[in-house]
Amino acid sequence: MDFGFFVSLLILSLFFKLFTCQLPNTDEFYVSDFLKKMGSNSTLSYNSSASVCSWEGVHCDTKKENIIGFEASGLGLSGLIPDFTIGKLTQLQSLDLSKNKITALPSDLWSLGSLKSLNLSSNQISGSLPNSIGNFGLLEVIDLSGNNFSGEIPAAISSLVSLQILKFSGNGFEGSIPTGILSWQSLVSLDLSANRLNGSLPDGFGAAFPKLKTLNFARNEIYGRVTDFVEMKSLTSLNISGNLFNGSVMDVFQGQLEVIDLGKNQFGGHISQVQFNSTYKWSHLVFLDLSENQLSGEIFLDLSQAQNLRHLNLAYNRFARQKFPRIGMLLGLEYLNLSKTNLIGHISGEISQLSYLRALDISSNHLAGQIPSLNNKSLKILDVSHNNLSGEIPISLLEKLLSMERYNFSYNNLTLCASGFSPETFETAFYGSLNSCPIPANPVLFKRRANRRKGFKLALALTISMVCFLAGLLFLAVGCRRKSRTWVVKQPSYKEEQNISGPFSFQTDSTTWVADVKQATSVPVVIFEKPLLNITFADLLSATSNFDRGTLLAEGKFGPVYRGFLPRGIHVAVKVLVHGSTLTDQEAARELEYLGRIKHPNLVPLTGYCLAGDQRIAIYDYMDNGNLQNLLHDLPLGVQATEDWSTDTWEEDNNGIQNISSEGRLTTWAFRHKIALGTARALAFLHHGCSPPIIHRDVKASSVYLDLNLEPRLSDFGLAKIFGTGLEDEIARGSPGYVPPEFSQPECDAPTPKSDVYCFGVVLFELITGKEPVGDDYLEDQEANLVSWVRGLVRKNQGSNAIDPKIRDTGPEYQMEEVLKIGYLCTADLPTKRPSMQQIVGLLKDIEPRASR
Ligand SMILES: *[C@@H]1O[C@H](CO)[C@@H](O)[C@H](O)[C@H]1NC(C)=O
Ligand SMILES: *[C@@H]1O[C@H](CO)[C@@H](O)[C@H](O)[C@H]1NC(C)=O
Ligand SMILES: *[C@@H]1O[C@H](CO)[C@@H](O)[C@H](O)[C@H]1NC(C)=O
Ligand SMILES: *[C@@H]1O[C@H](CO)[C@@H](O)[C@H](O)[C@H]1NC(C)=O
Ligand SMILES: *[C@@H]1O[C@H](CO)[C@@H](O)[C@H](O)[C@H]1NC(C)=O
Ligand SMILES: *[C@@H]1O[C@H](CO)[C@@H](O)[C@H](O)[C@H]1NC(C)=O
Ligand SMILES: *[C@@H]1O[C@H](CO)[C@@H](O)[C@H](O)[C@H]1NC(C)=O
Ligand SMILES: *[C@@H]1O[C@H](CO)[C@@H](O)[C@H](O)[C@H]1NC(C)=O
Ligand SMILES: *[C@@H]1O[C@H](CO)[C@@H](O)[C@H](O)[C@H]1NC(C)=O
Ligand SMILES: *[C@@H]1O[C@H](CO)[C@@H](O)[C@H](O)[C@H]1NC(C)=O
Ligand SMILES: *[C@@H]1O[C@H](CO)[C@@H](O)[C@H](O)[C@H]1NC(C)=O
Ligand SMILES: *[C@@H]1O[C@H](CO)[C@@H](O)[C@H](O)[C@H]1NC(C)=O
Repeated sequence: MDFGFFVSLLILSLFFKLFTCQLPNTDEFYVSDFLKKMGSNSTLSYNSSASVCSWEGVHCDTKKENIIGFEASGLGLSGLIPDFTIGKLTQLQSLDLSKNKITALPSDLWSLGSLKSLNLSSNQISGSLPNSIGNFGLLEVIDLSGNNFSGEIPAAISSLVSLQILKFSGNGFEGSIPTGILSWQSLVSLDLSANRLNGSLPDGFGAAFPKLKTLNFARNEIYGRVTDFVEMKSLTSLNISGNLFNGSVMDVFQGQLEVIDLGKNQFGGHISQVQFNSTYKWSHLVFLDLSENQLSGEIFLDLSQAQNLRHLNLAYNRFARQKFPRIGMLLGLEYLNLSKTNLIGHISGEISQLSYLRALDISSNHLAGQIPSLNNKSLKILDVSHNNLSGEIPISLLEKLLSMERYNFSYNNLTLCASGFSPETFETAFYGSLNSCPIPANPVLFKRRANRRKGFKLALALTISMVCFLAGLLFLAVGCRRKSRTWVVKQPSYKEEQNISGPFSFQTDSTTWVADVKQATSVPVVIFEKPLLNITFADLLSATSNFDRGTLLAEGKFGPVYRGFLPRGIHVAVKVLVHGSTLTDQEAARELEYLGRIKHPNLVPLTGYCLAGDQRIAIYDYMDNGNLQNLLHDLPLGVQATEDWSTDTWEEDNNGIQNISSEGRLTTWAFRHKIALGTARALAFLHHGCSPPIIHRDVKASSVYLDLNLEPRLSDFGLAKIFGTGLEDEIARGSPGYVPPEFSQPECDAPTPKSDVYCFGVVLFELITGKEPVGDDYLEDQEANLVSWVRGLVRKNQGSNAIDPKIRDTGPEYQMEEVLKIGYLCTADLPTKRPSMQQIVGLLKDIEPRASR
């Protein structure tokens, strides 16, 4: 057989196999060829066994001969469109190839003279638009937005005389707007935004478009004046933001515009003469943006007729200093931006009447006073940063923050009285001169809304404890006055002898420390709350009888702790941090000032400090009821406690603490639970309420104190940092019995919040077992310490054997076992397996202690 014949037969049969139903040069052939070559990812739109007219996106004429409409939007078509495909659909009236990855158009596309609608938006077409676009004399809609067209808009575009909608936005068109567009008499919508068009508008522009409703020239470099638009009687939406328009904006307020966006231009002059009350027209106004111009003088005097206004942005102008404008009548307002408009005085209370307000930006002004309550659910964005606002952020607002998209309170003089924010939030939203950051926190505040009854109980409890507290205070005040008087009598007053010169050297059982100061009276003691007291190191000497051993409360690992009364009866514990610090005086002072601002009902507050030579001396409120270690293990409270509490009774809403005498205090389950929960709250606050999180590094029973009201309070937080890198190894790693396993590893890790969690777990074990972490006898096992002993029992489900006999009968055993289990979780070997302090607070709260009888 002739080989050539065989080959041609093969080719012919292949050809027929490929195009069984698709005869060459039919619309069906062009379309299927197009889809194939452009790599369509759609199986639906290509079904060779069905007629092309039934394909999705294909519309044929009534005789089913020719395709007149073709939609292939978002089919993953990519690359350049070849000639002899859709460019051959000669009857095509509507073509939609939007949202693909087309990079270039075929030259035969421009021969489709019947096209009425062309949508090529959201592709990657580049190059310039050819003059042959003038062939589209019937085109009504053209959308080339979101491509990479460049070069000038060709003059031939003037031939598109039927055009109603043109969208060329988001390309790289350059040069000026061609005069040819003036022939588009039917134009309704024109969008040339986000290009590189420049120059001024063609002469006669304003009169050329009798039907134009929306005009968008935003983000180009076009210049002109608003008078260019005043003749456009049909115009309802004008967007020329981000251009070089200048002159006065007054004329724009003469039309019937609903949307006016003149932002980011070079408009100047005043707008105070604009009278929104003059005619009915202003009821149309919905959107007004005049931001980032050079407007001066006053803001609008009268907005009362603009009651449909939903968006008002006057930000970043050069207005005169003025009071917050009257906005109370703009009841539909959803967006108000008065950022950097030179506002003084207070934020208008009217703002809380705006029910639909979604975004409020009044940043970078000179507003003072408090933030009014913004009690509406709709508020999602709030920026009050860079003002001079003071007082507390209203609770109602705080409660809403968690559901808002964005808020910024930075750079004010505000006080924040709730925690629950992430460190990231703190950094971005509460930065700068926030009055107290971190904050006096009360996590309960967040829950209050959720449970009103609980809130009421809380308020009641607060009132009761307040009354008790005041009574206690009165009692103490009398006691203190008596006390301080005796001090004065007993001690030589160093203030009187004017020249007390150092260096001073002091001894305790374990250490000697030196305060290298020349004159005791010239070394100030900073007392945060009472800056005017003018206390000096001489007063500290006097208060502690010259750091006498008799006033020694304890010898902590940071150094000795003394007790004393400062002038005016301030009862303090004076902690001398004797281990060398690598921080400079300034750094240490800054750190101590920072610690002084950290307040929480379960933290021992830092009252003040003194830098005496190299010694950093921290001064704390004195805790009247000793620390947990002493109380649990019946150790003396250091210096004898002054007040006798044995006759006092204690009531606390039904949770079993009643008639707690001084010796019986710690022998009830409810009270130990209260200590566990309070301590957990303090740690949760340090970890989750402070930015950056504060790692305590030395949680142990002797760091937990009981205050006058028998509330547990954690002490010594943040101290490790005062030492900088000077605090080494043993001290930095924690106390015996409290060292987390990760610290014993050769490649030992830096302390993390989870190392605090471990230590807290040990404290929980102590609270339930009444035993010391090391050195106690663990009879049942010969194990080395409390942790391994209790963990062993819990693992064998014998936790009840570990319970302190003293509390065993004061509450349900299963609850105590539950706490041991929490301790078990906390003391997991792997830090990642330990719960967070926030979770622990939740777990402990779920256990509601009751008396067993
Ligand atoms: C293709 O069209 C034929 C005839 O209309 C139909 O039977 C078949 O199910 C279609 N195939 C697909 C994949 O849609
Ligand atoms: C085709 O691809 C585009 C993007 O490439 C995608 O958005 C579309 O969902 C895809 N369609 C199908 C049917 O897979
Ligand atoms: C073009 O197509 C896009 C995406 O399908 C669509 O959003 C847009 O409204 C269309 N343009 C016109 C002018 O109809
Ligand atoms: C757009 O076109 C310009 C040249 O006109 C080219 O430099 C640029 O890379 C293109 N951008 C994209 C995203 O294709
Ligand atoms: C417009 O921009 C082009 C470059 O894109 C430049 O050559 C021309 O001078 C500019 N015209 C005006 C009036 O700024
Ligand atoms: C004006 O156009 C710009 C750019 O396209 C856009 O960001 C802005 O939202 C538009 N303004 C209005 C009121 O639609
Ligand atoms: C407005 O801009 C035009 C073009 O840049 C300039 O010639 C004119 O001086 C400007 N007018 C004012 C009042 O700034
Ligand atoms: C409109 O407001 C101006 C300025 O506040 C005032 O002088 C004028 O009387 C008001 N006109 C009407 C009709 O209320
Ligand atoms: C307020 O306007 C300024 C200037 O245009 C802008 O930077 C800021 O983002 C706007 N604020 C909000 C909340 O939109
Ligand atoms: C906003 O609060 C007001 C009461 O202050 C209320 O009438 C209105 O319905 C609230 N609007 C929304 C959207 O929640
Ligand atoms: C901030 O407000 C306080 C009063 O609340 C005032 O004493 C102070 O001068 C104000 N600071 C500035 C920069 O306006
Ligand atoms: C911040 O507020 C406090 C009290 O509200 C005030 O004493 C202090 O001067 C204020 N600071 C500034 C910078 O305005």
